Amino acid sequence: MSWRIKPLDVILETAEKKSLHRSLGAFQLTMLGVGAIIGTGIFVLTAEAAQKAGPGMMISFVIAGFVCAVAALCYAEMASMIPVSGSAYTYTYAVLGEMVAWVVGWALVLEYAIAASTVAVGWSGYMVGLLRNIHELLPFLPNFSIAETWVNGPWNGGRVNLPAFAISLLVTGLLVLGTKESARFNAVLVTVKIIALSAFIALAIPVMNLDHFEPFAPNGWIGKLGVSAAAASIFFAYVGFDAVSTAAEETKNPNRNVPIGLLGSLAICTVFYLLVAAGAIGTVGAQPVVGADGEPLHPGSLELTAACQGLERLVCSREPLAFVLRQIDWPHIGNLIGLAAGLALPSVILMMMFGQTRIFFVMARDGLLPAVFASVHHRFKTPHVVTVCTGLFVSFFAALFPVGKLADISNSGTLFAFLVVAAGVLILRVREPDHPRSFRTPLVWFVGPTAIAGCLFLFSQLSTYTELLFLGWSAVGLLVYFGYGRSRSHLAER
Ligand code: ALA
Repeated sequence: MSWRIKPLDVILETAEKKSLHRSLGAFQLTMLGVGAIIGTGIFVLTAEAAQKAGPGMMISFVIAGFVCAVAALCYAEMASMIPVSGSAYTYTYAVLGEMVAWVVGWALVLEYAIAASTVAVGWSGYMVGLLRNIHELLPFLPNFSIAETWVNGPWNGGRVNLPAFAISLLVTGLLVLGTKESARFNAVLVTVKIIALSAFIALAIPVMNLDHFEPFAPNGWIGKLGVSAAAASIFFAYVGFDAVSTAAEETKNPNRNVPIGLLGSLAICTVFYLLVAAGAIGTVGAQPVVGADGEPLHPGSLELTAACQGLERLVCSREPLAFVLRQIDWPHIGNLIGLAAGLALPSVILMMMFGQTRIFFVMARDGLLPAVFASVHHRFKTPHVVTVCTGLFVSFFAALFPVGKLADISNSGTLFAFLVVAAGVLILRVREPDHPRSFRTPLVWFVGPTAIAGCLFLFSQLSTYTELLFLGWSAVGLLVYFGYGRSRSHLAER
């Protein structure tokens, strides 16, 4: 029975029964995508990627972007066939049945909620850096000296990351107030991010020194440190485009607008990332910090934190883009980039949490989670209960864990979801060849298998710790399914 499949017609019908308001168009959706994509990945994880790959992180960006592009094409076809909330979870329900859908939904908690925590920690790095240098930007204010204890989790030599905790709670409040307001707020901040990255590129690219690209791949290409490992981490920088498909149920003319939103936002971001990475490497260099034995240290480790004490290196910075600009004598613009990140990263947290709440909402609507999760606030018209629960989960992880580890954990869930969606597209091409699709993945028998292989490859390049954590999380998910959801599912025989 666990293989029960939810027919497409029933999915579309359920959505009609208890639907969210359709208010988003193609432009808003693309902005929603760019808003969800550009974030901690490029602003913060550039340092982690450099520690893993050195200048070879340029190739890491290309690899990760390529895997996302093929996955996005599959997402777009699924989203155009099943334009309702729930993303990979809903698609899987229609293709592979309830049990796999549950596991995917459970993995999406890693993707969205942990991603929100990751971005919150990245935001904290920039805000703390900004406050420590605020005098240069606003001469009437003194620089703040902030104890490391309260801006780092225990795995980073502190106790609690209070700024990350606080911003997560603030975003939760905004989401409870409503999608429409949140989307408008998002559009302004997307503009801020684009201006910040453009300024960085304009200042860094002209003063590049090509010698900084040598040695290009100091840690090698394949393995748990190296170019492909950096690709598995920097993959995070592209995550978020599928948040567009989770908003399908709130989109006008989703069959046309969702594919535009997905692919358009991905294309815009890829161009920015390559230019920013080139600018960072070419100006200050991106060589990894090594331990006493000459071996590169792992990002997010206490050893690296210790080795970085007193070093002015890209890989050591918690605010790498601001760091680069300070190094090349643009301290004011560096601080403004910090300010832009501080203003704009919350929009990414918002999108990630938005995606998470909508997935829980749909799972509850299907009976797999308690019905209270599907309740909509009478005045704000938002799923407030699920939003608050998600917000507390996100805040907890943001308060305690380091950014690189959170990003990798989030990636494990995302890669799994992408893989299942790509497989689903191929299965539906065989099983339902005539079902209308307003968007068809081109060269699907090349693109689909490439997406699957790409996700498997990147997953294999994550740290062993992350892989085990993912497997453990999935096992817990299955226990919850058999203990709760399986018998309560609306598709269960009564
Ligand atoms: N892609 C998003 C970021 O980099 C999640 O923050």
